Amino acid sequence: MIGVLVSGAGTNLQALLDAGLPVRAVASNKRDAPALDRVPHLPTAAFELAEFDSRAERDESMAQWLLSQSVELVVLAGYMHLLTPGFLAHFPERVINVHPSLLPDFPGAHAVADQLAAGVVEAGVTVHVVDEGVDTGPILVQERVPVREDDTVESLHARIKDVEHRLLPTAIEELLCAR
Ligand code: GRF
Repeated sequence: MIGVLVSGAGTNLQALLDAGLPVRAVASNKRDAPALDRVPHLPTAAFELAEFDSRAERDESMAQWLLSQSVELVVLAGYMHLLTPGFLAHFPERVINVHPSLLPDFPGAHAVADQLAAGVVEAGVTVHVVDEGVDTGPILVQERVPVREDDTVESLHARIKDVEHRLLPTAIEELLCAR
């Protein structure tokens, strides 16, 4: 069973659903994340940092909720907070992230803008296992996305997302088959 963590629009969550993957629960750090509106048929929960004493407590509460929903594999689909070690310990080697660059280059929350600012000719997408670092952890699959001369952050991110929507579900399917 897959649990998905989201913070934003949820187009990667939608790609997982469209691929028919067994998504059983969706959690967010933002109660108003548009992604939550995509899953009226699934259990959802919001874990706002301001409602807890610490990130560790928030993450523990979120992990316990996911476990209560029988989640075994966690996919970060545009989840924009770093997870604490305590959360990861509940799902060892079973938290997967999609990131809009060719890691280890351009980690962090502004990867698309950073790649444009650096003038790279190829941006990309990485799907990787999450560890305690910022967008570190073993890489499962990567794909290059050529940068065009007239690209803006929006146009480049749109083409990157097209690749993410194919690469992420395929990587998750392969992981489930290998288990
Ligand atoms: C994606 O580009 C993902 O790589 C990044 O945030 C974006 C989330 O988009 N971490 P969405 O919410 O899935 O539409």
